[in-house]
Amino acid sequence: MRKKIVAGNWKMNKTFAEGITLTNEIIDGLKNSQHQCDQVILCTPFLHLQKVSELCNEEYVLHTAAQNCHTENSGAYTGEISAFMIQSVGATHVLVGHSERRMYNAENNSMLAKKVDIALANQLTVVFCCGESLEIRNAGNHIAFVNEQIESSLFHLSKEAFKNIVIAYEPIWAIGTGLTASKEQAQEMHFQIRAKLNSGYGEEIANETSILYGGSCNAQNAKELFSQPDVDGGLIGGASLKAADFLTIIQSF
Ligand code: PGA
Repeated sequence: MRKKIVAGNWKMNKTFAEGITLTNEIIDGLKNSQHQCDQVILCTPFLHLQKVSELCNEEYVLHTAAQNCHTENSGAYTGEISAFMIQSVGATHVLVGHSERRMYNAENNSMLAKKVDIALANQLTVVFCCGESLEIRNAGNHIAFVNEQIESSLFHLSKEAFKNIVIAYEPIWAIGTGLTASKEQAQEMHFQIRAKLNSGYGEEIANETSILYGGSCNAQNAKELFSQPDVDGGLIGGASLKAADFLTIIQSF
């Protein structure tokens, strides 16, 4: 059975103290509520990662992720953080290929393939982000575009390695815009991604890989999106910054 996952991507938000407060609110909320979620992942800024990892407790299905890692383990790369360092503070996951990093940091498919490799080599589970711009969707090329992102950055992996991949489909036009993909648009793409995984790795991997939806997913629309057969949860930006909203999303399966 593939996992139901809700991941909160804090992006560049929250002071250290605010991040710890939010984490404690989420932990309290999880203790006092029922939900069907298998994993809740807090994708915090690097600064918060060690403390939040200490607070996270698998009993409450909580894990932590970095939002990025470098392509190398160590070296003269001023200002960078490696997968080796990320796992050393207790984080278990890392986002790779978020569209904001593709856009603002010129991350391309081949660089992302290297990040995937180094993350897996450091025992981190990769949440691999993909998704098309509005222009690409309007031209009818969204499925081919996303398939290409997946093939270029992931399809060199062995079947065994692929078991440590989670996919997050995030249409760029829906991120932070308040425009959400309709449940039909999300289901169509998730179905196509699963078909792509099937073509590369066979039915077992296709059925076992969690595919999350991201892009203005919130406490109001999560239930509808998560009810789709190929949507296994969400990667949540803005709505993950308030414990009450995030907890509602976790309870939306
Ligand atoms: P959003 O961001 O929920 O604020 O649209 C999602 C993401 O970028 O991961």
